[in-house]
Amino acid sequence: MFMNTQDRYGLIARLVHWVIAALVIGMLAGGSLLSLLPPGGFKGLAVAAHKSIGVLILLLAVTRLLWRSFNLQPRPLRGTPVQAYIARVLHVWLYFLPLLQPLSGILMSQAYGRPVVFFEGFSLPPLVWHSPLLGAFFREVHGVVAGLLTVTIVVHAVAALKHHFIDRDRTLVRMLKGR
Ligand code: HEM
Ligand code: HEM
Repeated sequence: MFMNTQDRYGLIARLVHWVIAALVIGMLAGGSLLSLLPPGGFKGLAVAAHKSIGVLILLLAVTRLLWRSFNLQPRPLRGTPVQAYIARVLHVWLYFLPLLQPLSGILMSQAYGRPVVFFEGFSLPPLVWHSPLLGAFFREVHGVVAGLLTVTIVVHAVAALKHHFIDRDRTLVRMLKGR
């Protein structure tokens, strides 16, 4: 039930997939709106929430990679070897970009000299020294990775819909219900 098999996704893989998917898509939309907010109390709250949810995504993405490393990966259901290869490459991106994006955010904030506090609990230890130049670099990285994530997710979601509505196989259903 919890573990994957050769032809089904277990409960943990499915749960983590959809929680990360919802949070990442929400953060891409929310992050883009941050710059439109006027400076003030609400913007402060929104940035704090963005940073905390981002750190949560980092923790979930690490959990997913660990879980993936001692679990089977279900076989692709349909398609040519080339399609299977493209799906594999996209999945690798979708494992790593949700790690890279929060990391670049943390490094950006810390380099600008702004602490990263996880849900008003503890402050993350400094991973980088104070340098506005480095901050600007990681800000650039944060923007570029956001763009890469958006394109990869769109292609991935369109592929899932193609499996469901055109190929009429159980690829999408399997990620929702397990098999
Ligand atoms: C509406 C959006 C999404 C849909 C419809 C969707 C659908 C799917 C489906 C059907 C699979 C199974 C593919 C297969 O068995 O070959 C899958 C796997 C996967 N998806 Fe998504 N997905 C979405 C969003 C995302 C997002 C936002 C991410 C990451 C940021 C993501 C990361 C992954 C990864 C890493 C896999 C490989 C299996 C795993 O370990 O979870 N997906 N997705
Ligand atoms: C998967 C997680 C994350 C996603 C998808 C995400 C996405 C985004 C996006 C799309 C933007 C707007 C970028 C732009 O306008 O160029 C943004 C801005 C920002 N993000 Fe994130 N972010 C994530 C995690 C984090 C984390 C963990 C932090 C810090 C701890 C962070 C800090 C910031 C800050 C401070 C800004 C405003 C930058 C500015 O002033 O332009 N983000 N984020």
